[in-house]
Amino acid sequence: MMIRTMVFSDYAKVHALWLSTTGLGLNSIDDSAEGIKKYLDRNPGTCFVAIESDQIIGVILAGHDGRRGFIYHMSVNQNRRRQGIGDKLVDASVQALREEGILKVALVALVENKIGNQFWVKQGFTSREDLVYRNKALVEFENIYT
Ligand SMILES: CC(C)(COP(=O)(O)OP(=O)(O)OC[C@H]1O[C@@H](n2cnc3c(N)ncnc32)[C@H](O)[C@@H]1OP(=O)(O)O)[C@@H](O)C(=O)NCCC(=O)NCCS
Repeated sequence: MMIRTMVFSDYAKVHALWLSTTGLGLNSIDDSAEGIKKYLDRNPGTCFVAIESDQIIGVILAGHDGRRGFIYHMSVNQNRRRQGIGDKLVDASVQALREEGILKVALVALVENKIGNQFWVKQGFTSREDLVYRNKALVEFENIYT
């Protein structure tokens, strides 16, 4: 198994992995090929895939806006979980964000995603009870909850 930065040609395999993963919130625009190309063009060194025998068995999207890092769509193939692959992917992204001068990284997880939340606790991500997460869509999205 090796971890390397994600490139756009990984998209089809990564998208198939996301669709086979329970607990992710995808959407029709950001997670389309064009959306992911835009994200990788802006964040070329901070997204990673785990590869084995030419198959993508794990992925993490991470990027930043010059101030804070943000992680999206972390997934490890169902058959390869609990072997430390998620841990290695987070380490790779966090290290890459650090090297770009980023001091704090955040993510959102669905409340009902118990395993995902246990994983993030283990990675040292605390939850903020003093904040309300708010957002506003600027276009119409079709949400895909896997
Ligand atoms: C969350 C996910 C990425 C973890 O990947 P992974 O490769 O299995 O994680 P690791 O093996 O590196 O686990 C690291 C630690 O996380 C915790 N953890 C991971 N899976 C867990 C589980 N099923 N139950 C309890 N704790 C778990 C453990 O503390 C584990 O350490 P340990 O094995 O030494 O006890 C994987 O379960 C997954 O793809 N889930 C579906 C997608 C998802 O929920 N993504 C996050 C969206 S916010």
